[in-house]
Amino acid sequence: MRGGALVRPTRHSELRDRRADAEDSAATPGHDSRDRAFRAKISISGVHRTFAADTANPVHALGPFDLDIADGEFACLVGPSGCGKSTLLRIVAGLVRPSEGEIEINASGSSGAPFSVVFQDYSIYPWKTVERNVSYGLEIQGMRKKAALDKSRRWLEKMGLEDFARAYPDTLSGGMRQRVAIARALAVEPEILLMDEPFAALDAQLRQLLQDELLNIWQADQRTVLFITHSLEEAIVLGDRVIVMTSRPGRVLESFEVPFPRPRQPELRDIPEFSTFKAMLWGSLKGEVEHYLSGIRGAASETGDKGWER
Ligand SMILES: Nc1ncnc2c1ncn2[C@@H]1O[C@H](COP(=O)(O)OP(=O)(O)OP(=O)(O)O)[C@@H](O)[C@H]1O
Ligand SMILES: [Mg+2]
Repeated sequence: MRGGALVRPTRHSELRDRRADAEDSAATPGHDSRDRAFRAKISISGVHRTFAADTANPVHALGPFDLDIADGEFACLVGPSGCGKSTLLRIVAGLVRPSEGEIEINASGSSGAPFSVVFQDYSIYPWKTVERNVSYGLEIQGMRKKAALDKSRRWLEKMGLEDFARAYPDTLSGGMRQRVAIARALAVEPEILLMDEPFAALDAQLRQLLQDELLNIWQADQRTVLFITHSLEEAIVLGDRVIVMTSRPGRVLESFEVPFPRPRQPELRDIPEFSTFKAMLWGSLKGEVEHYLSGIRGAASETGDKGWER
């Protein structure tokens, strides 16, 4: 990852064509205005990925996967372990090539950074101080060093890290390092934020605090977000939509609009409708998790290994 911000070219010629099509259809009497208004920020069509490092046993990780994510939408992906969530996010980020299919990113170019990516494993530079970790991406965008450091400190303040601005990452806890990674990703004000289980390794209290912080930040300044989580609660609190994936090879099983209006408050978690919606999501996901578990059990019994029981 380069400084948390991944830049990938937009296919401007296609964008122009689609815009022209949209303008043409807008001029057509009787055309549904919602069709005209909808422009996917991220469009994923027929994407597959097979890993063939072991050519005798290629792994079909993903696909066919189709999904459109609207501009400003907060889309949460949930699915059983190994169903290809991280692979999909890496494909969208341009870090992994799809074996088949197309990804289209409609970046407007209004922000210096089309993408930021936050991974689970606090991927920040160990040789840079906390504030330099955050300011570095801004400098890459062309911001002057002093302005970048000022902005970096403002983001560190938001993340409750102002007292650690000059510290090195190895002196921080895991949760603090992850907050640095998040500050770094948000400081560049990306058009699209890609997050792969960013809070998974944090303790429950910190996780909830950071969920609430991300909720506030997103509500103040809507970006397009693709967010992977194993927590249905997290997906409901944060997302506009929860997309449930099948077990590997991952496809879209079902997509649920989250029925709770914004701005959302942390107390949302306590209302009965929250639990009802969560149960509905679990009803969709459960079969896929069971399918995944039966696969592991099968593999374990073939080898005599107890695998999943450990
Ligand atoms: N670089 C790679 N080489 C070979 N196989 C890979 C590679 N990356 C992923 N895979 C395989 O692809 C499948 C999907 O992996 P992926 O990491 O995308 O799953 P995931 O849904 O993110 O899982 P988890 O929820 O456990 O993070 C797995 O079977 C994994 O072993
Ligand atoms: Mg993953």
